[in-house]
Amino acid sequence: MGVAKFLRFHLELFSCPMTPTMLPGAPHIHYSGQQLCVEGCDLTILAQTYATPLFVYSKASMLAALAAYQRGFAGRNAQICYAMKANSSLAILQLFAQSGCGFDIVSGGELARALAAGADPKKVIFSGVGKTRQEMREALQAGIGCFNVESEAEIDVLNEVALGTGKVAPISIRVNPNVDPKTHPYISTGLKGNKFGIAHERTLVTYQRASKLAGLRVVGIDCHIGSQITDEAPYLDAMDRMLDLVTGIEAAGIPIEHIDFGGGLGINYNGDTPPQADALWSKLLAKLDAREFGSYKLMIEPGRSLVGNAGVCVTEVLYVKPGEQKNFCIVDAAMNDLPRPAMYQAFHTIVPLQHQTELASSALVMDVVGPICESGDWIGHDRTLFVQAGDRLAVLSAGAYCMSMASNYNSRPRAAEVLVDGANAYLIRNRDSLADQLRGEHLL
Ligand code: LLP
Repeated sequence: MGVAKFLRFHLELFSCPMTPTMLPGAPHIHYSGQQLCVEGCDLTILAQTYATPLFVYSKASMLAALAAYQRGFAGRNAQICYAMKANSSLAILQLFAQSGCGFDIVSGGELARALAAGADPKKVIFSGVGKTRQEMREALQAGIGCFNVESEAEIDVLNEVALGTGKVAPISIRVNPNVDPKTHPYISTGLKGNKFGIAHERTLVTYQRASKLAGLRVVGIDCHIGSQITDEAPYLDAMDRMLDLVTGIEAAGIPIEHIDFGGGLGINYNGDTPPQADALWSKLLAKLDAREFGSYKLMIEPGRSLVGNAGVCVTEVLYVKPGEQKNFCIVDAAMNDLPRPAMYQAFHTIVPLQHQTELASSALVMDVVGPICESGDWIGHDRTLFVQAGDRLAVLSAGAYCMSMASNYNSRPRAAEVLVDGANAYLIRNRDSLADQLRGEHLL
């Protein structure tokens, strides 16, 4: 080991997040004795039962995350619409539907999933810059609560589709407030240069036009400024800008029934300290009250913060491959299961299923990589691990934007999913079979 690597290795020993209380997602994801558990279920046993890679979620962790929002909104007229793009597995949608949530959807597929999971269509809101006519028709037929319209052109198309189906589309206009959420550029959505929403300065005229169209009924206003936001300031700024607009729109004689502040609250991936949902909302509500908007119906669209820390991806070490410049820990999960590192250079904490109180002196600094044939297929860079083939690792904070973004790249099956409730584990999605992968394709 060279001097630089020796120093890095020993520095990492001190910063290695090995103690149970420091695991993102604690207390529902924790070591019990030597074994990493999700609630009352030992992940090693789940891996033996269902094989790897395997996503495992804690029901209690999801409900605790939801409860923080519910506490924040206690006594208010508020609707939480889970942004199901974060994790759209049916059992998870069912859990949120049964807990009173509505859903923020972005496609006809998400609408069908939400309805299949028991969603109340009136609590469904439809966001997205590229809704097709067919998707609009399906959502109108289902009787969804609101279309979050993202462009002036979409207003005309939605009006036409609504008139054609004999329905009136309830709409909200998504405002682009031009606020910097200070997050990764790919997941920042409320800046002028982003494709989302209608420019702040075009909002009033757009409402005036929309309010005159017979196929539309204005019900709200919305914004969503980005994702994995760890600072409260952008929310407070966006709220001020939205409320200024509501004042102007209502002064023009167009009543606004609900104000939707989007989602975006970050989670702890690597010691991140985003505000807690209840604390953030008590500040935001104080601002609403101070500006005399406290009686308006509130909507929010959280995704990641409801499910992100509730999930882990269990993976098995296939090979340890020491090298002159880099050591590699090759595991059976890959960028098709966990696309966030490759896409956003995202950090996910990786821990062994067997608790290691002390790292052995033969621990190596390694890149944790998958079997996919490209160098972008990495899950963690420069992690200090003491593992051998056959050991299992857990990639933490994998409840959001992992399975929902998973693919069959390299003709790999998408992983199985298990939902844990106390000491019980439920298989909520089978691993793709080979037949699943070949279905729908035709030889010439
Ligand atoms: N509402 C709208 C209109 C959205 O576009 C999004 C996320 C949300 C709500 C939920 O945001 P959240 O609470 O989850 O931050 N794949 C990326 C994240 C993309 C987020 C896209 N929009 C990632 O893995 O970081």
